[in-house]
Amino acid sequence: MQLLLSVCALVGITSAAPATEAAFSLSARRALPNHQTLAHLSARKIRRDGKTGNFSTAIDNQLYWYANFTVGNSSNLELLIDTGSSDLLLNNGVYVPSKYETAFNGNTTFSISYEGVDRQGFGFETINGTVQNDLVSAGGLTVTNQTIGNSTSFEYFDVPPLSSANPGDGIVGFCFQGDSVFEPPALPWFFNLCSQKLISACRFGLAFGTRGVGQLVVGKYAKKLIDGPVVSIPNIGGNSSYAVYGDVTLNDTIVLENQTIIMDVGTDNIQAPIEQATEVFKLLNYQTQTLTEAPTPFDPGLTITVLNGFFNCNNPPSLGSKSQLKKGEKATVFEVSKDVWGVFNNTATNCTSILGGTNGITVGNVSAWLLGQSFFAGHYIDFYTPHNGNETMISFAKLKHPGDGS
Ligand SMILES: *[C@@H]1O[C@H](CO)[C@@H](O)[C@H](O)[C@H]1NC(C)=O
Ligand SMILES: *[C@@H]1O[C@H](CO)[C@@H](O)[C@H](O)[C@H]1NC(C)=O
Ligand SMILES: *[C@@H]1O[C@H](CO)[C@@H](O)[C@H](O)[C@H]1NC(C)=O
Ligand SMILES: *[C@@H]1O[C@H](CO)[C@@H](O)[C@H](O)[C@H]1NC(C)=O
Ligand SMILES: *[C@@H]1O[C@H](CO)[C@@H](O)[C@H](O)[C@H]1NC(C)=O
Ligand SMILES: *[C@@H]1O[C@H](CO)[C@@H](O)[C@H](O)[C@H]1NC(C)=O
Ligand SMILES: *[C@@H]1O[C@H](CO)[C@@H](O)[C@H](O)[C@H]1NC(C)=O
Ligand SMILES: *[C@@H]1O[C@H](CO)[C@@H](O)[C@H](O)[C@H]1NC(C)=O
Ligand SMILES: *[C@@H]1O[C@H](CO)[C@@H](O)[C@H](O)[C@H]1NC(C)=O
Ligand SMILES: *[C@@H]1O[C@H](CO)[C@@H](O)[C@H](O)[C@H]1NC(C)=O
Ligand SMILES: *[C@@H]1O[C@H](CO)[C@@H](O)[C@H](O)[C@H]1NC(C)=O
Ligand SMILES: *[C@@H]1O[C@H](CO)[C@@H](O)[C@H](O)[C@H]1NC(C)=O
Repeated sequence: MQLLLSVCALVGITSAAPATEAAFSLSARRALPNHQTLAHLSARKIRRDGKTGNFSTAIDNQLYWYANFTVGNSSNLELLIDTGSSDLLLNNGVYVPSKYETAFNGNTTFSISYEGVDRQGFGFETINGTVQNDLVSAGGLTVTNQTIGNSTSFEYFDVPPLSSANPGDGIVGFCFQGDSVFEPPALPWFFNLCSQKLISACRFGLAFGTRGVGQLVVGKYAKKLIDGPVVSIPNIGGNSSYAVYGDVTLNDTIVLENQTIIMDVGTDNIQAPIEQATEVFKLLNYQTQTLTEAPTPFDPGLTITVLNGFFNCNNPPSLGSKSQLKKGEKATVFEVSKDVWGVFNNTATNCTSILGGTNGITVGNVSAWLLGQSFFAGHYIDFYTPHNGNETMISFAKLKHPGDGS
């Protein structure tokens, strides 16, 4: 999910190397075992001016990736893995404090707003709650003083609501401290592992397969999971998002040069600025439809327009992203797997495309693309923020086993 209201601050990464080799992999999966949330769905719309689109789409457990964490006194909590936000939040009623619980030295309440919560990657949510520090561990590594949010209330906008703040037990954000909504911004769990030198290298990799199983790799680069070249690109998202420059390709041919692209595994779909989405849909000869989302109470000035495209279900395209490489180097195109291109089957031959246009995504003042989990599927994407304070590098490779990331 992409944070709507983000602040900027520096990431507190120290420069010394870790004393010992430490890294781990967690199994991750896209679906939750029980589909409890779907049963609670009931359409609800915020309708202020009658111009809203119909967003009665399911927020489906299948959309998101989870791994197991221990938080406070509860273990085996399945937390949604997000690279578009930075805070760890537990759903209402999930949090059980441990003996390590301490008061947060700051504002003890929080309010966060997400964009991109539904199956098509649109819709909003606001979550409020209380803030404290407690133990958070995974893969055998423990941060005892992790700032966490205990959700107390939440509200969905323009999407049918779930019965909880997030599917699963909560969410864990892997983005920078600059995107923390706690006041003052708190160091995210992953960056606490780095600053407390609990891992060998300050990096994590998402090896998520197209069949809904995969791995979260922390503290190392798992070379054995990949096949082919690794393309490393500097992060241009500063301290508030993971983003790169890249070209957009159709059938291996560049159709849009040098786009700003946010890497957000906590959103389902692929989003392009309206103008670029229009261009791609035109090249693909897709029928399109424009929808206007409701103005949201947390930002009444913000009206999001969404452009959907419809395609023949039997003929998904070859849309890819090509990174900015040095002259003379052979370019590598990373494509959206054809397996994940259809987001809805409207009829047997009419599918809604995983690519949609939106005017809501920017990096700085630049309209940006957003690659959600559907792009991650089949790839190994690694986020490396070296201890020496170097800029973050984002590396792309193809999974050796694209189905399950094994
Ligand atoms: C929204 O779409 C759903 C499913 O296509 C349909 O059942 C419902 O009637 C629509 N609602 C409105 C207000 O158009
Ligand atoms: C979390 O742990 C439970 C219990 O061990 C297990 O059944 C489940 O598969 C785990 N979930 C993930 C995403 O690994
Ligand atoms: C929860 O607390 C009990 C005792 O109060 C302790 O035995 C147990 O290990 C704790 N579990 C976790 C995950 O902290
Ligand atoms: C603390 O949180 C409350 C509720 O979200 C908010 O109204 C207030 O402005 C915050 N205070 C500071 C100093 O951030
Ligand atoms: C725990 O973290 C908070 C910031 O979130 C900090 O103010 C506090 O000093 C830390 N306590 C310990 C024991 O490290
Ligand atoms: C966490 O929030 C719930 C409401 O969702 C509240 O009942 C509970 O007391 C809170 N727990 C702590 C430790 O603050
Ligand atoms: C969250 O808190 C803000 C004030 O900080 C309030 O305006 C909003 O209605 C609250 N939302 C929910 C879902 O509780
Ligand atoms: C891409 O190639 C396929 C098959 O080779 C072809 O059907 C399709 O029209 C091409 N699309 C574009 C946009 O060139
Ligand atoms: C891409 O755009 C950015 C920002 O406008 C610019 O700094 C960069 O040089 C461009 N890269 C290429 C390869 O054109
Ligand atoms: C739905 O669309 C996908 C392609 O996106 C296709 O593989 C699948 O067979 C379709 N399912 C149905 C029930 O038509
Ligand atoms: C495909 O489905 C969408 C959504 O139901 C509809 O708006 C569109 O007209 C359909 N296109 C065709 C060619 O049937
Ligand atoms: C990153 O760190 C390496 C190794 O210390 C160093 O050689 C390189 O110059 C650094 N790059 C930047 C951009 O700081």
